[in-house]
Amino acid sequence: MFELPKLPYGFADLEPNYDAATVELHYSKHHATYTANLNKAAEAAGLQGKSVEEILRNLSDAPAEQRTALTNHGGGYFNHNFFWESLSPKGKKLADSTLAGAKVGGATAADGLAAAIDSKWGSFEKFAEAFTAKALGHFGSGWVWLVVNAKGELEITDTHDQVSPITLGLKPLIVIDVWEHAYYLKYRNVRADWIKAWFNIANWEKAEERFLQG
Ligand SMILES: [Fe+2]
Repeated sequence: MFELPKLPYGFADLEPNYDAATVELHYSKHHATYTANLNKAAEAAGLQGKSVEEILRNLSDAPAEQRTALTNHGGGYFNHNFFWESLSPKGKKLADSTLAGAKVGGATAADGLAAAIDSKWGSFEKFAEAFTAKALGHFGSGWVWLVVNAKGELEITDTHDQVSPITLGLKPLIVIDVWEHAYYLKYRNVRADWIKAWFNIANWEKAEERFLQG
């Protein structure tokens, strides 16, 4: 049985960037519903006992008539677990890269995530501009991720609806939810303000931990 994981903070702890009412609704209704529906889909597909990552990585092995439900609810479950872990009250920043741009294009994982971001985009600010542009430009419901791609390189990518990067063979590091349910109560139609707020509460220490896990 998949269970709704405990939030790593209280509903109000991400204020004022992420309001308590949205966090509670997003977690207690949206995420909880994905969890319940994943349990139904996993049972119907005979996949009880598998981890959600195993299910998402091997969707093509699941019975054809359950694949859509597993994509939607398995992705909805995994993506939201990942999203809550991507946030932290007040946010957690990366230490400044010690490479200071001297090694553009040449940073290795051992240099850390700040160096890898500098190496790819030139600076964290330029990365943030590119990430923001992707999140603003995503049409409809979905997610914008920083991932490590199959070539081992950092990449900003978006997925639609509840498609998970796990299914696409990508290793996610951090994510913003750009479904309207993620921000509409407080930010209305102004997704740009939600993205700005997300940067104030993004947990880059967690992203780096994932990056260094190899
Ligand atoms: Fe969501």
